[in-house]
Amino acid sequence: MKSLALLHASQLVTLAGPKRPRVGAEMSELGIIRDGGILIRDGRIAIIGPRAEIEKKAAGAEIVDLGGRVVLPGFVDAHTHLVFAGNRIDDFERRARGETYEQIAKAGGGIWSTVEKTRAATEADLFAQAKKHAEWFLKCGTTTVEAKSGYGLTVEDELKILRVMRQLNRETPFEVVSTFLGAHAVPRDSPGEKYVDLVINEMLPRVAKEKLAEFCDVFCERGYFDVEQSRKILSAAKQLGLKLRGHVDQLTNSGGAKLMAELGAATADHLEKTDEQGIAALKNANVQPVLLPGSVYALGSTSYPRAREMIEAGLAVVLATDFNPGSSPTPSMPMVLSLACTQMKMSPPEAITASTINAAYSLNRDDIGSLEPGKAANVAIFDCEDYRELAYWFGFPQTHAVFVRGKQISF
Ligand code: NIG
Ligand code: FE
Repeated sequence: MKSLALLHASQLVTLAGPKRPRVGAEMSELGIIRDGGILIRDGRIAIIGPRAEIEKKAAGAEIVDLGGRVVLPGFVDAHTHLVFAGNRIDDFERRARGETYEQIAKAGGGIWSTVEKTRAATEADLFAQAKKHAEWFLKCGTTTVEAKSGYGLTVEDELKILRVMRQLNRETPFEVVSTFLGAHAVPRDSPGEKYVDLVINEMLPRVAKEKLAEFCDVFCERGYFDVEQSRKILSAAKQLGLKLRGHVDQLTNSGGAKLMAELGAATADHLEKTDEQGIAALKNANVQPVLLPGSVYALGSTSYPRAREMIEAGLAVVLATDFNPGSSPTPSMPMVLSLACTQMKMSPPEAITASTINAAYSLNRDDIGSLEPGKAANVAIFDCEDYRELAYWFGFPQTHAVFVRGKQISF
């Protein structure tokens, strides 16, 4: 591949720093280079620094003038449900008319209605829809996502979803880190304990054998999987070498954060109802919280997780979209930045750190999430002069261009 020089960034937000997730005051240190440039070779960052310095070393390289725009590492979205069929606009209208997420699920909407559509879809149908959604993410400046299965709930349908993620990785520039979430809901056609056994005895061994996922997740919640069932499933996954994430304390404070700490999970996600004891448990076990304000917003709730307390406790906070058809139909990390700043009182630099470098480490990736020599040239360029504008203006796209591994994505 030819070398490429990106020149004249108003702010090059590098996130350069220690090779680990950032905590406390470090979350505010973005390593900004004014009037910056990047020299890219073979899809990786060769040199990054002031524009004049890069220009001197750019002989023979293709030059791209950034025109005084803001440059960030591509966002890393560490919690999505990327692959599903259809949508849930009917649930959306019912919520607008006053019904709750739980009421709608009981009445035949909710996760189960997406499961029925996803089971009926072919792998090719799911791939086509997922590919369209992947383009949405890229248009918002996101170059890597974590994606969960969980709308199949049979051995074959869960594997079908995970194979779609693998195909996206192989056939598109979009980068997907796969998580098995067989325990997303108890299927209507299978009683709870029997389904837990199916997840442990049949699904997990197949997922591990076919190397279809790096992580295992569960929805630990009243009416879904209780703490005991979640512990069983996650322990079995750990035995098979999968790393752990979990949907915990979203609707009720059921001890989910403590369970993730006990199991040494990589992340505990949602945490809307987690209290100070849960926060302390996460800190002691070095578990990263993944906060999903898009789902709080879209469910019409005001119960945002306690981001400030988590940052003050020294947790390496992550922000993600929770992109899914039910509770968070947004692929937009800039929207999540806006919610994080306005609703959870995170500062703009903290929110950027949480959606880039901290997210990358939560996925066990050390070659993305910051712009430093040797890292993948996953770069997002935005039509603004100050990176804080990304969180400030909301509801419209500011993405100008996106590069994945040094290649510009057209959209
Ligand atoms: O992360 N909490 C469980 N799962 C999703 C919602 C999925 C759905 O409603 O389809 C979430 O919010
Ligand atoms: Fe989720």
